[in-house]
Amino acid sequence: MVANVLLLLLTFSCTAQSKVIDIKKFGINKDITQAFTKAWEEACASTSASKILISSGTHKMNAVKVKGPCKAAVEIQVDGTIQAPKDPYALKDAYEWIKIEYVNYFTLSGKGTFDGQGALAWNNNCRATHQNCKRHSLNFGFNFLNNSIVRDITSKDSKNFHVHVLGCNNFTFDNFHISAPKTSINTDGIHIGRSTDVKVLNSNIATGDDCVSLGDGSRNVTIKNVNCGPGHGISVGSLGKFTEEEPVENLLVKNCTMTGTDNGVRIKTWPSTPGATTVSDIHFEDITMVNVLHPVIIDQEYCPWNRCSKKIPSKVKIRKVTFKNIRGTSERKEGVTLICSKSVPCEGVELSDVSLAYNGAPIVAKCVNVKPKITGKAPTCSS
Ligand SMILES: *[C@@H]1O[C@H](CO)[C@@H](O)[C@H](O)[C@H]1NC(C)=O
Ligand SMILES: *[C@@H]1O[C@H](CO)[C@@H](O)[C@H](O)[C@H]1NC(C)=O
Ligand SMILES: *[C@@H]1O[C@H](CO)[C@@H](O)[C@H](O)[C@H]1NC(C)=O
Ligand SMILES: *[C@@H]1O[C@H](CO)[C@@H](O)[C@H](O)[C@H]1NC(C)=O
Repeated sequence: MVANVLLLLLTFSCTAQSKVIDIKKFGINKDITQAFTKAWEEACASTSASKILISSGTHKMNAVKVKGPCKAAVEIQVDGTIQAPKDPYALKDAYEWIKIEYVNYFTLSGKGTFDGQGALAWNNNCRATHQNCKRHSLNFGFNFLNNSIVRDITSKDSKNFHVHVLGCNNFTFDNFHISAPKTSINTDGIHIGRSTDVKVLNSNIATGDDCVSLGDGSRNVTIKNVNCGPGHGISVGSLGKFTEEEPVENLLVKNCTMTGTDNGVRIKTWPSTPGATTVSDIHFEDITMVNVLHPVIIDQEYCPWNRCSKKIPSKVKIRKVTFKNIRGTSERKEGVTLICSKSVPCEGVELSDVSLAYNGAPIVAKCVNVKPKITGKAPTCSS
């Protein structure tokens, strides 16, 4: 009996404690690329939970691509700084500098920083305005991960988007910080696509592009206690470019502050494109705007660099969108802009306690192909 209890206790303490794999044992003199991959292989094959440790100090790393399925949970704890090569071409054609795929129960933790050293890449990053451009590597690609967490880590100066979340279920970013200069091109914070139950919590995101953006198939996403700025704000879209797009549904953005961003909270869809997906149950609540150029915006004529025709209205249907308790300052008099599609007007849009000031005076709202329900204090619409 006593022996049985002891055995039980031993079993418990063994499963509760994860096996620690310090990458030092694989040699980390100049560069940790090989060590990282070897540590991953060992961790992924472990039948009990394991933790890869990357200690303090500065480490250089080239592109890595690791995947599961793994036999048990895998955590990577980074306490140092990991630098990508400055030369963007050194990463060859890696879509992401760090790609992690097909894992259940993956955790990335620690007080460390992933520094993409993107400055040389930003000048010729692909944008419609560039002819001789290269699609540079993103800092992170998290693909097809379930029940996973990124916490405490910082992602800095990515060469392209910082994070792409694709095909994940139950993925949380907590106290995750992103920083890149306001002038850095295409350095979006977190882009989510085809994923369910994603949370971005308690984070600061400063970039040269979108703070968090939701592509097609983003479902049950919560963005809470997040500070954005500089950058382009929180966006749903852009959507409508392609026919096979999945709906975006159930988004809650709550208690976020947008500081000096181009947009605050935005939904954008392309005109004159075939995509006819839907965007529904989108809720923006308790948002503070500090000197934001377009604080509240639905733009179904999204057409950057005037590279498309606005003649054919967007086919993307937008319904059930609420803007509640939005306050602060706008950089334009037209602080609320709701331009919906003529062929599929927005439905169920609500403005509730939207109180923004431009130069000390209340803002105005422009509403096209939408009749928002107004409750509490909110600007009345003109077209
Ligand atoms: C993640 O969950 C999906 C849906 O339940 C499942 O099909 C997939 O195999 C899971 N992936 C892993 C790596 O466990
Ligand atoms: C989501 O993932 C977290 C982290 O692994 C886990 O603790 C939690 O139980 C998961 N939630 C569900 C509903 O599976
Ligand atoms: C998404 O949220 C909806 C509404 O709250 C809920 O019915 C659904 O079960 C959720 N789906 C997942 C996969 O969490
Ligand atoms: C709102 O978010 C801020 C962080 O930006 C946090 O300090 C504060 O506690 C949050 N408030 C609530 C009610 O969660």
